[in-house]
Amino acid sequence: QWGLDTKWIGKSIIHRQITSSTQDVAHQAAIDGAPHGTVIIADEQTSGKGRMQRQWFSAANKGIWMSILLRPQIPLQTSPQLTLLCGTVLAATFEKELNVRPFIKWPNDILINEKKVAGILTEMQAEQDRIQYVVVGIGINVNQEKKDFPEEIAQKASSLKMETGTSLDLHKMIQEILKRFEKMYDQYMQAGFAFVKALWEGFGFKIGKDIIVRTMNNERKTAFLGIAEDGALLVKNDQGEKEKLYAGEIEWFKK
Ligand code: BTN
Repeated sequence: QWGLDTKWIGKSIIHRQITSSTQDVAHQAAIDGAPHGTVIIADEQTSGKGRMQRQWFSAANKGIWMSILLRPQIPLQTSPQLTLLCGTVLAATFEKELNVRPFIKWPNDILINEKKVAGILTEMQAEQDRIQYVVVGIGINVNQEKKDFPEEIAQKASSLKMETGTSLDLHKMIQEILKRFEKMYDQYMQAGFAFVKALWEGFGFKIGKDIIVRTMNNERKTAFLGIAEDGALLVKNDQGEKEKLYAGEIEWFKK
């Protein structure tokens, strides 16, 4: 049905017409012993989750709402690398399939023409220092039109259709993403993070520019140097030294 020509990803696919959140289904599947590479796809989510407890609008058949269950054997501290890997997979797929120039806004928002078209939510279960499993949730706005977005997000959000002018086949896009994900993941496991970092930086939004990093209780203006080996945001501090940041939202100066 899904026409996947892959080695391990999506060998088991759980499809729901409607569910609360594919993240929840994935966590339950993980607890029930579902294998590495299990993919959960929903046509519609009634309580789609975004980062920072935000809501993710997931209207029926308008976009891709899916979660990938991974059981990676990597040290706990390197798990942010998986999120960056996933962002790179999405950006590379959009670039290749749609002939657009996507950017990744750290850590993992995919922007086209400075509007967000996709987001990633990584959730992890760890015990002591070991990763039990990781759920990578991918939300892609595909065929929405402006009127489909609630007013409060229409300013910042967009869809692939709005940015390319054409409706897209959700199945085909899912296939392309999963194929690329598998390839990049296998390469990452063999060769390490360096090539992912290089690809990510190629898509990095505002790299080399001044940005604003906003956290819960502060806000600072700083130069965005790139990403660190462990996936952290690399900025220049007031003393002119490199500093790593692990949390926060990037904002930028509009012309
Ligand atoms: C973000 O940018 O804040 C992350 C959005 C992640 C949305 C996806 S849709 C599939 C999966 N299920 C969810 O409830 N959330 C993720």
